[in-house]
Amino acid sequence: MVVHNGIFENYLDLKRELADEGHIFNSQTDAECIPHLIESYMNNGCSLEEATRAAASRIDGANAVVVLSRKEPDKIVSFKLGNAGGIVIGYGESEMLLASDIAALLPHVRTVAYLAVGEMATVTRKRVQYTRIDGSAVKKSTARVSYGALTATKGEYKHFMLKEIHEQPDAVLDTLRGRVQDFPFSDDRIRSFNRAIIIGMGTSLHAGMVGRMWIESLAGLACEVDNSSEFRYRDAVLDENTLVISISQSGETADTLGAMDLAKSRGARQLTLCNYEGTQSTRVADGVLPIRAGLEISVAGTKTFVCSLVTLYALAAYLGVKRGYLSEERLANIVQELLHLPEMIGQLLSDQSQYERLALKYGRRANFLFLGRGKNYPLAMEGALKLKEISYIHAEGYPAGEMKHGPISLIDRKMPVVALVPQDDLYEKMLSNVNEVKARRGSVVAVAAEGDKHISEKADEVIWIPKASANITPILNAIPMQLLAYYIAVERGCDVDQPRNLAKSVTVE
Ligand code: G6P
Repeated sequence: MVVHNGIFENYLDLKRELADEGHIFNSQTDAECIPHLIESYMNNGCSLEEATRAAASRIDGANAVVVLSRKEPDKIVSFKLGNAGGIVIGYGESEMLLASDIAALLPHVRTVAYLAVGEMATVTRKRVQYTRIDGSAVKKSTARVSYGALTATKGEYKHFMLKEIHEQPDAVLDTLRGRVQDFPFSDDRIRSFNRAIIIGMGTSLHAGMVGRMWIESLAGLACEVDNSSEFRYRDAVLDENTLVISISQSGETADTLGAMDLAKSRGARQLTLCNYEGTQSTRVADGVLPIRAGLEISVAGTKTFVCSLVTLYALAAYLGVKRGYLSEERLANIVQELLHLPEMIGQLLSDQSQYERLALKYGRRANFLFLGRGKNYPLAMEGALKLKEISYIHAEGYPAGEMKHGPISLIDRKMPVVALVPQDDLYEKMLSNVNEVKARRGSVVAVAAEGDKHISEKADEVIWIPKASANITPILNAIPMQLLAYYIAVERGCDVDQPRNLAKSVTVE
């Protein structure tokens, strides 16, 4: 029996060869070819391990595979080719377990190891032997999982997503503890960077878009941000003075890993933000900044997003100090405000009745527009992403200044517009965008700072955010984006934790 994740690129050639040998196929899948290939080696006298190794060396493409055979029932053999699918091996008491994701193993084990590309594991009840597919030995280190089985249950919450939203004050505290210890680059190296590029996908990409602005303003370092799947195929100009910062909560996203491989081949230095120790991205980068969000099970990322933001903010401040761009005094203010953040998030979570009401009022609309500027533009993107992911409502996130260049034509009385209107330098500009929406009879749900009288006169609804600096506000704004999407999805009866067609980690391109 074979469990397969990935794409077996040359399967048609091998299928033809195996069919000529007399193998009978029952499907058109590439996966079915793998057990036949292994079987053909076993028929020629190979053991399960030898046959799997021989088969693995003939498979092209990125594939993660687990193999069992009735002939050797006490053994599981697994291999990983390219960046497709994680293979996590769990060390239990008198048992070994394999899974594609750590969450599945948590109720049973606390010690895990990850297969790297080109590696194979031969697992029996009490031990596991790691080799490379070419037969050479591998010394594997294990990682200790710091959270227990309880974190893999919903507890009092209806959904993992709601539980994870509520865990954010604690998660942020964990993220803040021991920040930027063991930074992988020397002070001289940090000063040598003349450019940073942040890469990621989905929610991680949105965190990176905010991170870019912090790195520019707090560290004075030119910074770009790109989608990993685009970055990996463009002719990016990189050298050893480029710092590539990848963000991947899972550490297993195929496109981000591909982009990291490209960055490595072109000599860039790399940092990665990741939620899980020992995963693929943490092995490729020169240094790791753990985001410490704790286990996240819901497909839609919430606490990993907020913890990535906090990590990026702290990173930007650290780089700023080391580059002589940020004064110690400003750093002290940043630290003070960050320490206050869990409490402010707790405040935002204290009463959710407003979101239930908003879900009833707007939950049946077909489209939503999210608008923001500056550091809140990525939050508009994230708000739209959360909503479409879990409620299946079509939603667009736009920089508000772009509204006149297209989206404004969509606005009528059926279009709810979520406007992020913090009292920062761009406040007046956001207010005029709100006016423009109202003039076209759109409904405005504003997310604004407590005490803002102007906005309550203009918007149909206001979600209040505690007053905070312009740097902290985007982190706070994440919470209403999550809660709005959550309650609308619940109102629409959607499968919140496992939305259709989506996966927590996308391990194939
Ligand atoms: C998938 C998930 C998203 C996530 C993205 C990137 O699409 O559904 O929630 O943001 O992958 O994942 P990563 O693990 O690289 O942060």
